[in-house]
Amino acid sequence: MRKNTALKILNPVLAILAVNQIVTVLFREKLSHESFEFFHQGGGMIFLGLVILHFVFNFNWVTANYFRKS
Ligand code: HEM
Repeated sequence: MRKNTALKILNPVLAILAVNQIVTVLFREKLSHESFEFFHQGGGMIFLGLVILHFVFNFNWVTANYFRKS
C-alpha cells in the first residue's frame, strides 16, 4: 500500500480514537470500570501506536520542514 493511501486511512482512524479518549474520560462515571479500561486504556494503547506510525509515515515532511539546510 502506498504511504499516501495508508495515511488516508490512518488519519481518520486517529481522529476517531482521539475523540474516543476524550469522550470515555468525560463519561467515565457512566461507564463500568471494565468498559473504561477497554475503551480508554485499550483505545489509548492503539492510539499511541498509530500516532508513532503517523509520525513515521510523515518523517519526510518532518525532516524537510525542521531539519532543512537554510
Ligand atoms: C486526549 C487524550 C487523553 C485524555 C484527555 C485523557 C484523560 C484521562 C483522565 C482525565 C484520566 C483520569 C480518569 C479518572 O481518574 O477517573 C485518565 C486515565 C487514564 N488514561 Fe487517559 N487520557 C488520554 C489519553 C490516554 C492515552 C493515549 C492512554 C494510553 C494508554 C491513556 C491511558 C490512561 C490510563 C491507563 C488511565 C488510568 C485508568 C485507571 O485509573 O484505571 N490515556 N485519562
